[in-house]
Amino acid sequence: MSHRPTQRPAVSLTTLAEKKALGEPIVMVTAYDFPSAQVAEEAGVDVVLVGDSGAMTVLGHPSTVPVTTEELLMLSRAVRRGLKTPLMVCDLPFGSYEASNEEAIRNAQRFVKEAGCDAVKVERGGTTVERARALVNAGIPVMGHVGLTPQTATALGGYRSQGRTAERALQVLHDAQALQDAGCFAIVFEAIPSALTEAIMPRMEIPVIGIGAGGAADGQVLVFHDLLGIYDGHVARFVKRYSSVREEMIKGVSDFADEVRARRFPEEQHGYTMAPDEIARLHDLLRESTGEPFTGGFSL
Ligand code: KIV
Repeated sequence: MSHRPTQRPAVSLTTLAEKKALGEPIVMVTAYDFPSAQVAEEAGVDVVLVGDSGAMTVLGHPSTVPVTTEELLMLSRAVRRGLKTPLMVCDLPFGSYEASNEEAIRNAQRFVKEAGCDAVKVERGGTTVERARALVNAGIPVMGHVGLTPQTATALGGYRSQGRTAERALQVLHDAQALQDAGCFAIVFEAIPSALTEAIMPRMEIPVIGIGAGGAADGQVLVFHDLLGIYDGHVARFVKRYSSVREEMIKGVSDFADEVRARRFPEEQHGYTMAPDEIARLHDLLRESTGEPFTGGFSL
């Protein structure tokens, strides 16, 4: 068993910077509700991301795009209740931060004030760099995200790896540096060649968390439902399954259904008892109220 003790000091931005300096890998997973947050807490991860991937894994949308601020706030509040130690980062959903710095700050503040998020995550370079700077100036820690940015996957040609030509690779590098310069405390590299991550790493002073970006990053993130085998949608090349929880869940529910249909559940130990004298009194009361002897299922 490799469970971590639950009493650890809370992970802060400084903790992550120290881990990078010491060359200690940073572990990040997504979570979307109270039980998944408790699992992440118990497993001793460093960072929990309330990812907009929850749009797909728990809300059943075909992409991350439709999820609303209200929906992600609700998931974030549930995650907050299950976490004590890891740093909690929440995705700002698509459409909640692009239009203006003011709107980005207003929405990010909701995640901090209403859901207790420690930091927010935003996707892409371009105009997002200005938003990231505005959020940092407003006192909100920001995590960047470059490479495959699912919120704008359509514009990138779909869910495919990015930065595979020298020119596109340079663009990923520029985006990452710009987000670092804007004050992001960490950044996600998603689905880019391992060689590109290796080329960018010497230029990154902030922790880089990879997902499909090779082993050179300072840490790794996987989607909770992917790594545990809960989600049965498309599985990206970069996912490693550490468990088959979905199969276990289907087995459990099927076994329950079989036992109910065969009247093997519930058994005696699943029921509640009543003192014999109370049962006798109930029989009397029923007899008095109907005038007929009680013929129900109570046994004395
Ligand atoms: O939403 C998410 O799950 C993410 C991770 C893939 C980093 O952004």
